[in-house]
Amino acid sequence: MTPFVNLLELEALAKPRLPTAVFDYFAGGAHDEITLGANRRAYDAIALRPRVLVDVSRRDLSMTLLGQTLAFPVLVAPMALQRMAHTDGEMATARAAASLKTVFTVSTLSSVTVEEIRPACALAPWFQIYVHQDRALTEGMLARVAACGYGALVLTVDTPVLGRRERDVRNTFQPPPGVAFANMMAGTGATTGTSERDSALAMYFAARHDASVTWKDLAWLRRTCRLPLVLKGVMRGDDAKRAADHGVDALIVSNHGGRQLDTAIPTIRALAEVADGAGPNVPVLVDGGVRRGTDVLKAIALGARAVLVGRPVLWGLALDGETGVSRVLTTLRDELDTAMALCGCATLSDIGRDLVVT
Ligand code: FNR
Ligand code: LAC
Repeated sequence: MTPFVNLLELEALAKPRLPTAVFDYFAGGAHDEITLGANRRAYDAIALRPRVLVDVSRRDLSMTLLGQTLAFPVLVAPMALQRMAHTDGEMATARAAASLKTVFTVSTLSSVTVEEIRPACALAPWFQIYVHQDRALTEGMLARVAACGYGALVLTVDTPVLGRRERDVRNTFQPPPGVAFANMMAGTGATTGTSERDSALAMYFAARHDASVTWKDLAWLRRTCRLPLVLKGVMRGDDAKRAADHGVDALIVSNHGGRQLDTAIPTIRALAEVADGAGPNVPVLVDGGVRRGTDVLKAIALGARAVLVGRPVLWGLALDGETGVSRVLTTLRDELDTAMALCGCATLSDIGRDLVVT
């Protein structure tokens, strides 16, 4: 096991373990990577106002979300093609999330099938859906995840088209041999007949993903799949209100970890507005740049019920498979526990807006 003390040092530790094109795909963002960096820096710009002389000798980090009890408010974000990080791929991530009693969100573009992943999970995993132009294929996927017992459907709404990741363009990124979109019989099948050098993922999206999806399609999704519906990528209060009006079950404030629209607002700065728009009955989650326990505490203070963590999970996976991912999740959990104690919070419901200065 490569020792690591915190999540911020992981990227540099994982880098030498991975082929350059894979590392760049994982680490990179769109265009100038402004949002990628800003997500993280925005947390550092928020100061804490700790409360003193509170009995924090016993602390409880657990919470319930869409009918399940999580040991702490950190879920694993959906990320494609995890077998590029480690041969066990999504299986290792699922087992680590299971051992820490949290939820793993499985990507449409996972490199292990949804059916294989399901039994490795303790809590019902969530399934992230990319709506393909081939609606029959999409409906087939939804039927499969419902049949094998997933807990929620996460529709990613920040990706009508794929953001331009220039590292991937330069590397002509494509998954290494033996790693493919396992849920799709057609594999990565990414050819549009364009002669331009581009990332295989960008070509896949351009050829297969449906950029025409609107609010009207939520009714179709709901009919097709009865699981609770979560929208991932909502960044505005008015969209959050609209989502609530459409009966959506939860929202994730996300800019896709800076991989889509560059110079989009850092997620932690969009959170309060989205939480207001969503109202009291729709839980709001946030991801992007969460690397410290204090980040989780700040997110909760500003209206999030929980956060999702992305890249550090891939780095942990690359370093040491399931053990590495467990260590990432444990580190974040323990840092949150310490941050709560030092802020005078014994439970998550003690974390209020008064704790932060923005
Ligand atoms: C992602 N993300 C993503 N999101 C999604 O909805 N479906 C997907 O298949 C993927 N794939 C993916 C691959 C890789 C390599 C990364 C880094 C990210 C976005 C992900 O769910 C999440 O929004 C961000 O990663 C959160 O930001 P941090 O924690 O990585 O900063
Ligand atoms: C990504 C896509 C697959 O961010 O969501 O790479």
